[in-house]
Amino acid sequence: MKYMWEGRFKEEVDRDIIEFTKSIDIDKKLAIYDLKGSIAHTKMLSKVGLISKKEEEKILKGIEKIEEEVKKDKFKILSTDEDIHTAIERRLIEIIGPVGEKLHTARSRNDQIVLDEKLYLKDSIVNILEGIINLQRIFLKKSEEYHNVIISAYTHLKQSQPILISHYFLAYIEKFERDKERFLSAYKRVDVLPLGVGACSGTTLKIDREYLSKLLNFSKISRNSLDTVSDRDFLVEIAFCCITTLLHLSNFCEDIIIWNMDEINYVILPDKFCTGSSLMPHKKNPDIFELIRGKTGSCIGLLTGLLTLLKGLPLSYNRDLQEDKKLLFEIVETLNFSLIILSKVVKEIKFNKERIEKSISSFTLSTDIAEYLVKKGVPFRKAHRIVGQIINYCIDNNKDLFSLSIDEFKKFSNFFDEDLLNILNFYNSINLKTSEGGTSLSNVKKEIKRWKKDLKKSSHLILSLKEGNFILKK
Ligand code: ARG
Repeated sequence: MKYMWEGRFKEEVDRDIIEFTKSIDIDKKLAIYDLKGSIAHTKMLSKVGLISKKEEEKILKGIEKIEEEVKKDKFKILSTDEDIHTAIERRLIEIIGPVGEKLHTARSRNDQIVLDEKLYLKDSIVNILEGIINLQRIFLKKSEEYHNVIISAYTHLKQSQPILISHYFLAYIEKFERDKERFLSAYKRVDVLPLGVGACSGTTLKIDREYLSKLLNFSKISRNSLDTVSDRDFLVEIAFCCITTLLHLSNFCEDIIIWNMDEINYVILPDKFCTGSSLMPHKKNPDIFELIRGKTGSCIGLLTGLLTLLKGLPLSYNRDLQEDKKLLFEIVETLNFSLIILSKVVKEIKFNKERIEKSISSFTLSTDIAEYLVKKGVPFRKAHRIVGQIINYCIDNNKDLFSLSIDEFKKFSNFFDEDLLNILNFYNSINLKTSEGGTSLSNVKKEIKRWKKDLKKSSHLILSLKEGNFILKK
C-alpha cells in the first residue's frame, strides 16, 4: 500500500499530483507533537476498549522507537510520504505490523493537524515569552547602567524634550509587557483540545475526549466539530502577536540604526555584532538591526498571506489550510531568532554619553519655559506664543536659550525673573517632570524598582506554563 487512502482509487495517482499535494517537507517539523498526540490517542483508545491493553503496549513501543529516530535525526522520509501524519503511521506499521493500523481509529488528519499546530504553538509561546522577558531584563539593566544620561526625546525625528535615557529603555519594557499580555490572552484560544472531532462531524465510536484533554494538558475541549477542523483563528492571533512584538523590535532597531549614523554617533556597536563591506574598507555596518527591520516587513507579508488564505474558505476543512504552516513557522522562528540576537547585542551596546549630552539643544527646554509662564498665571496659548518669539529671536541672532540674559527674556514678558535660571537646566527640567509616567529621576527609579519585582514574578509564569498548569484568570 502506497497511500493510506488508495482503496477507492482505480488508477495510480499522477506523480506530479502527489508532489504538488505533499506537505511533508514543511510539517515534518511537527513530528514530536504528532507523536505526543498519538501517545495520548493510543492511551485513550485503550481506556475506552477500542484497542486492547496488549495492542496499546505494542503501539506505544512502536511510537517510542519512532520518537527515538526523530530525536536522533534518523527518521527516514519516503517519497510516498504525503505528510507527517501518514509518514509516522507508515513507519509504525513497518515496526509493529498490522496492529499499527488501529492507531487512526476515531481520528482524522483534519483534527490531528490542528492538535499538532496547537502543541507546537504552546511550546513556541513559552519560548517567545522567555525571549521577551530576557530582553526586558536586559533593557532594565541598560536603564540602570545609564540612569543619569540625558538625551533628547524625539517626535517626528526632531529634538523635543530632554529625558533620561532610562526612560527610553523603560518605554520599550512597557511595549514588551503588552506583547506578553497579548500572547497570554491568545494562549487561551490555543489551549482548547481539537482532537476527537474526526474529519468534521464527530465519531460513532465511544471515545473519551475528557481523558485526551487531561493527557495532553488542555484546559478546555472544543465544542463543535465543524468549527474545530476549520478554526485557524488561534493561529492568526499568535501570528499577529508575533508581528506586534517584531514591530517593537523593528522600531528599536530603527532608533539604533539612526543613532549609529556617523553624523549622530550616539551608540557604539561591538565589532562582533557588525559586518563589513566587500568594497569599502572603512565600513562597519549595523546589518543585524537592518535585518530585523527587514524581516519584520517580510513577516507582515506572511500574516497577510495567512489572512488571505482563510478569507474564502467554506466550512469546514479545506486543503488550502495546509499552506498555513510554512507561513506560521517562518513568523514564529523569525521572532524567536530576533529575540535571541537582540538580547545578545543590546547587552553590549555602549552609549556615547558625551556625544548624546552635547547634541541636545537648549530649545528642548521651550515647553518648560512656557510652563514657567503658566505657573505665573499666563494662559498657555499666550505663553506658547511668547516662547515661540524667543526661539525666533535666538535663531535670528545665532544664540541659544542659555546665552540669553534675564533682561533679554524680559523683553518678551514681564513675568520672567531670576528664578528662570532654575528652569534653564536639563537636569531640573527632567526632575520637574514628576507627573505620573513622566521622566523625572524619582519616577524612573520607582519604575526600575517595580520592574525588577515584576520581572521576577515572570519566571513563575514561565514555570507554570512549562508544567502545563497555567490557567488564565478571567
Ligand atoms: N496535511 C494537511 C494539513 O496540513 C492535513 C491532511 C488533511 N488532508 C485531507 N485530505 N483531509 O492541513
